[in-house]
Amino acid sequence: ALSTELGKQTQLSEVAGILLQTATVGNWSHIQSFEAKPDDLLICTYPKSGTTWIQEIVDMIEQNGDVEKCQRALIQHRHPFIEWARPPQPSGVEKAKAMPSPRILRTHLPTRLLPPSFWENNCKFLYVARNAKDCMVSYYHFQRMNQMLPDAGTWEEYFESFINGKVAWGSWFDHVKGWWEIKDRYQVLFLFFEDIKRDPKHEIQKVMQFMGKSLNETVIDRIVQETSFEKMKENPMINRSTIPKSILDQSISPFMRKGTVGDWKNHFTVAQNERFDEIYRKKMEGTSINFCMEL
Ligand code: A3P
Repeated sequence: ALSTELGKQTQLSEVAGILLQTATVGNWSHIQSFEAKPDDLLICTYPKSGTTWIQEIVDMIEQNGDVEKCQRALIQHRHPFIEWARPPQPSGVEKAKAMPSPRILRTHLPTRLLPPSFWENNCKFLYVARNAKDCMVSYYHFQRMNQMLPDAGTWEEYFESFINGKVAWGSWFDHVKGWWEIKDRYQVLFLFFEDIKRDPKHEIQKVMQFMGKSLNETVIDRIVQETSFEKMKENPMINRSTIPKSILDQSISPFMRKGTVGDWKNHFTVAQNERFDEIYRKKMEGTSINFCMEL
């Protein structure tokens, strides 16, 4: 239900126990009946796991490394966000419908909330996962600066919300497990934020192959350079500098914040870290997934 906390509108509601933006829930039947096409590529991430980064990489590959073509629109408008709704603006579903094929779309939805036609059409899924601790830190700072999301509260309070999945798009654990479990049954390229950071060229080449593209060495090197944190932070088509302060207050925390692996060490207390590791073990029991926590 819609509620107001500490003066900030907390526009979240639940679908099947998962918190989503209230406007998204209001548009839910349209989202669920979304008609995917067999040649759709869907970029899938849990929030704060490198969505913007992989979007820019994918777009640079799609545009054959043409920097100017990648400047054609703000990054958030280049790939329709399936569950996005903010009336009277056109919804993500409407934007996707209007897009010519082959389409590149994006979502933060967990597997069990994905519109079924994506599975029925055996679409390509590009999933990027980020280690839970850095993801939590990044989400905390994002929630502090994003006026469309509930108050983050203190770091201690946020820690509880995150481990209990009481944040927009639900539990990190369920999200990552869900996508990891289906990866061998569908066309999924499963990438890790930490791998892209460590060896961007190698990961970019994997994305290129997955997209069925072939680009020469010079172009690939240019994509590596253009998608570095430093370059992307300065890029007005990416850094959200055109979004009003009443929505994203970058004086609280910049959208392109740090872009590193291991910033969790500057936030987690020893006690929190031990507790987190214990919870992680229980929640991720039986999964073969392995995360890198520092470079
Ligand atoms: P931090 O808050 O840790 O800096 P999303 O796009 O899914 O919202 O993810 C945002 C996170 O990805 C932020 O993490 C942001 O800095 C990081 N990021 C974005 N572009 C990046 C890049 N080119 N290199 C490294 N990290 C990047």
